[in-house]
Amino acid sequence: MIIAVDGPTASGKGTIAKALAAHFGLPHLDTGLLYRAVGRQTALNGGDPDREADALAGCAFDDALLADPELRSETSGGLASRVSIHPAVRRALFERQRAFATQPGGAILDGRDIGTVIAPEATAKLFVTASVAARATRRFREMQAQGGTASLDDIAADLAARDLRDSTRKDAPLIAAADALLLDTSELGPQQAIAAAIALVEARLTPA
Ligand code: C5P
Repeated sequence: MIIAVDGPTASGKGTIAKALAAHFGLPHLDTGLLYRAVGRQTALNGGDPDREADALAGCAFDDALLADPELRSETSGGLASRVSIHPAVRRALFERQRAFATQPGGAILDGRDIGTVIAPEATAKLFVTASVAARATRRFREMQAQGGTASLDDIAADLAARDLRDSTRKDAPLIAAADALLLDTSELGPQQAIAAAIALVEARLTPA
């Protein structure tokens, strides 16, 4: 069984994917982390994330980089959003994600194009959304808890810019698959969002 969880930044898709993995006993891959590693490696190489050749060179990151806490920063998220535009980068990361998705026993992947490109045959596809205001507030609280100083307005502007880049790129844009189950978490706390996601997937698994 493959479960695809797609959606924009701070929609809650990562929390939901982790909880679904625990609930269904499946391995989980956060595919955003791969793009973040490419962005960070490109920067470490002194490359330009907007140049396809530089971003492609960043795909040769050492797997140890995936454990670097710096990948969780807003800077790495912004770099990821820029390198992920390039078709060569998406191709370079395709096989790794595809192999994870098709491993015996099944898997859960979260990202932007899991239900549309990486695993179009997924058993259940969730598209998790939330308003920009709700997502910006969540991110603001997280950052404040970590001692960050960015304003709510700056975070909202950054999220909106990233959404625009992700959803208007030519290759694998952020869009819900036609057969995706939509989950809007704007008004839900984490536990409510997790319960709603489990209910949606279980309904999909139960023959009508
Ligand atoms: O999900 P996360 O915020 O970690 O993703 C960082 C960036 O990586 C996204 O803004 C998006 O541009 C890119 N990404 C992607 N395809 C994926 C996962 C992430 O293009 N499957």
